Amino acid sequence: MPWSTTPEQTADARALPSASGADTARVVAHLLLPAVVGGVIRRRPAGVALTERLHWDQRGIQTMARLRATYGNGPLLLRIAGRSVALPLIPEDVRTILDQTPLPFSPATWEKKGALSQFQPHGSLISTGRHRTERRKLNEAALDMAQPLHRIAPALVATVRQEARALLRQVDRTGELTWDEFGAAWRRTVRRLVLGDAARDDDTLTELLNRLRAAGNWSVLLPRRRQTRDDFLRRLRQHADAAGPETLAGALIEQSALSRADAVGQIPHWLFAYDAAAITTLRALALLTTHPDQEARARSEIGTQDLSQPRTLPFLRACALEAVRLWPTTPLLLRETTGVTEWRGDTVAENTTFLIYTPYFHRAEATAGAYADRFAPDIWLDGQARENPALVPFSAGPGECPGQNLVLLTVSTWLGVLLEEHLYQASPPTPRLRRNGTLPAEFNPFSLRFDVRPTAAAAASA
Ligand code: HEM
Repeated sequence: MPWSTTPEQTADARALPSASGADTARVVAHLLLPAVVGGVIRRRPAGVALTERLHWDQRGIQTMARLRATYGNGPLLLRIAGRSVALPLIPEDVRTILDQTPLPFSPATWEKKGALSQFQPHGSLISTGRHRTERRKLNEAALDMAQPLHRIAPALVATVRQEARALLRQVDRTGELTWDEFGAAWRRTVRRLVLGDAARDDDTLTELLNRLRAAGNWSVLLPRRRQTRDDFLRRLRQHADAAGPETLAGALIEQSALSRADAVGQIPHWLFAYDAAAITTLRALALLTTHPDQEARARSEIGTQDLSQPRTLPFLRACALEAVRLWPTTPLLLRETTGVTEWRGDTVAENTTFLIYTPYFHRAEATAGAYADRFAPDIWLDGQARENPALVPFSAGPGECPGQNLVLLTVSTWLGVLLEEHLYQASPPTPRLRRNGTLPAEFNPFSLRFDVRPTAAAAASA
């Protein structure tokens, strides 16, 4: 089904611009290469550190601004490694593409299928036709997509509080919080939330998944790791079969009675995607500790509530959304045309990959205006973010992340416990995030370290 143009767009019609050889090389070097070096499916800490040192995302954003000035509205057509690529240059086009998912803009792109089929061959994101419809529906239902508080919220809050407090007891002894110990506590939490308490210490499950994700970083360039995948999926199925009703796997199995979709086949994506929420949590914490006014608001939000019960915590949720706006964990949103597609009076070939580079759209001067490079959680509360069609940290349209509300619940609950009785200072004083300063395009979470001490009230009651 071709995308039909509106009369106004037809009046504007002109051939879509094609990138010069030099500009194609810039897109590869500044937009694609940093993603590959940093690891698309499994982050490589050394690659992420290099990206930060070289200000690589800043270069990507500048390249996009330059392309926009040179080529107008786009989308800009490129040939990269023998494939047709289209690069949207204006915010309105971002929304049009995402709103018209999966037809004619399929999320199951060639590169994504190569990468994700290593560990989730039946994931909804790389499924098409009837399979996609069923698997997507199952994800939406099991993840309670529309609900700020998932049906397992009471159990989720109890688990997060236990694991976060265990982490903080360890932190109280050393006086510092690093990525490594936070990441380990996070993974234990996620295994419990998704698969139940029996999976808490199953590091082997995560290790198998990580091996498959590392292979996924190379997309179609590596053969399938079938033996590892079989081992991983077998282990996963055993946990899922034993998971109780108070887990995400339990919610999934409850829904799957009504569906023909491969239910357990959806779980690998959840385990994988929860990593992005860990990164978001520590970045949001770092933002709060370098923005005293916002930190005071966060502390006042949690100070007035009984956090042992599920809470929506709108300000902390806005901080999480803001961390993903500033540093999108999915910097490249990919779609592939399912047929010859009409675009502003021109045609785009079938199997063209549309590549939405979100770091640019989330900060682009013209659309993001005053908040572009600043920590501005209020835009998620006062309607400004809604007015900008290109702010898509969780994507948008029929391919929008069905886990968004669950992520915001998990991240805000974690932040609530971390802030409840402790004070943080990012250390050594990071040159990357200055107090109330302009925020850099890159922010490596893996090198983060916080000096931590109890609040005066917590110290007094100890
Ligand atoms: C900070 C954390 C997260 C962010 C920023 C995020 C963002 C996104 C984005 C941008 C997409 C669209 C990808 C694309 O079009 O290629 C997506 C898809 C998806 N996400 Fe998330 N996600 C997060 C965590 C999660 C979690 C924890 C879950 C489940 C527990 C989840 C479940 C899904 C699923 C099932 C899809 C595929 C949707 C489809 O097939 O249409 N996500 N997510």
